[in-house]
Amino acid sequence: MEEKTAATSGEQKRLLRALDGEMLERPPWWLMRQAGRYLPEYRTLRTRAPGFIEFCLNPALASEATLQPVRRFGMDAAILFADILLVPHALGQKVDFGEDGPILEPITEGSGISGLRQAGFAGLDPVYETVRLCRAALPVETALIGFAGSPWTVATYMVEGGASRDFRVIKAWAYRDAHGFGALIELIIDATVDYLSGQITAGVDAIQLFDSWAGVLSEASFARWVIEPTRRITARLKERFPNVPVIGFPRGAGLFYQRYAAESGVAAIGIDTAVPVAYARDMLQGRVAVQGNLDPIALLVGGAVMEEEVRAIRAALGGGPFIFNLGHGVLPQTPPRHVAALARLLAEPVDRA
Ligand code: CP3
Repeated sequence: MEEKTAATSGEQKRLLRALDGEMLERPPWWLMRQAGRYLPEYRTLRTRAPGFIEFCLNPALASEATLQPVRRFGMDAAILFADILLVPHALGQKVDFGEDGPILEPITEGSGISGLRQAGFAGLDPVYETVRLCRAALPVETALIGFAGSPWTVATYMVEGGASRDFRVIKAWAYRDAHGFGALIELIIDATVDYLSGQITAGVDAIQLFDSWAGVLSEASFARWVIEPTRRITARLKERFPNVPVIGFPRGAGLFYQRYAAESGVAAIGIDTAVPVAYARDMLQGRVAVQGNLDPIALLVGGAVMEEEVRAIRAALGGGPFIFNLGHGVLPQTPPRHVAALARLLAEPVDRA
């Protein structure tokens, strides 16, 4: 008789089964930004390190932050506690987290990448230790997701010096001097592959690439700065780690979602709240697993509003490979009891009527 492996016996982690294309009666769930300020225990923990980067690079604190939401709500996956801006930090850029979000000493069109570390990639070893601590502490059925920002999104922070409204500086650079800008993207691709390889070697089961600002580009620019770098990262990871699936989250990509699903090499696609679920079912789910897409504000409001939104999402997407998630991250103002209510709702079988 054929020996039963975890993969054939149904013992495999629910998240990985969905990423492998399986339809599950009770689909896996986790929430983007499931760790963080909406949890009182996170706010207490956070006071134990002065700066946010120090917090992220402290394996004891970062692993505890990773585990907190899973302990409380029993998600099917934990997401490593870290930040997409650790990569610019490791490349030698000055990164600070102020009251109003991140502040970076911007990389300019004039100086290009000359100020960044170009050979070797060190400094993120504590993150790999965080992965090992999480892996050792998590229940066997709970997947651990590693992550990085996608090169385009990371570059927006590196070039704009923080959050941006119109992406004027980075887009103008990319249009005027695609070659020089491309060198920055190349550098981020290499750093990202190294960083994610380190996370995988330390024990993460899957990877998510956050492309939070994928939705601000023209068609040609989207192909060049979103799809192509993502394709290069997934291809290089697949060569070394064929069994580690990548979830791509090109937030706001709208009519480019289909092309991204077809060309980027991801195993699953995260859809934002504005993507119609019937469209995702008909046009994306045949090719990749779909993850999403409850409005974070519906979670913040809770009650019947949230229940109705959840029902519609599960009814549309529950018939194929599906991972329940939000359309963007949990907001700090979200009452934890609404997440507990969501957990109870998702424990029930999908009503596809
Ligand atoms: O629970 C998790 O999802 C894991 C941890 C995680 C954080 N950031 C922790 C964090 C993850 C996956 C991220 C991703 C991230 N970071 C993204 C992509 C997702 C998205 O929201 O679009 C982006 C764009 C960043 C960059 C970033 N980090 C910003 C813009 C900010 C400030 C705004 C904000 O949300 O606070 C951060 C800080 C940050 N990253 C915090 C946390 C918990 C808050 C800082 C603190 O707790 O002191």
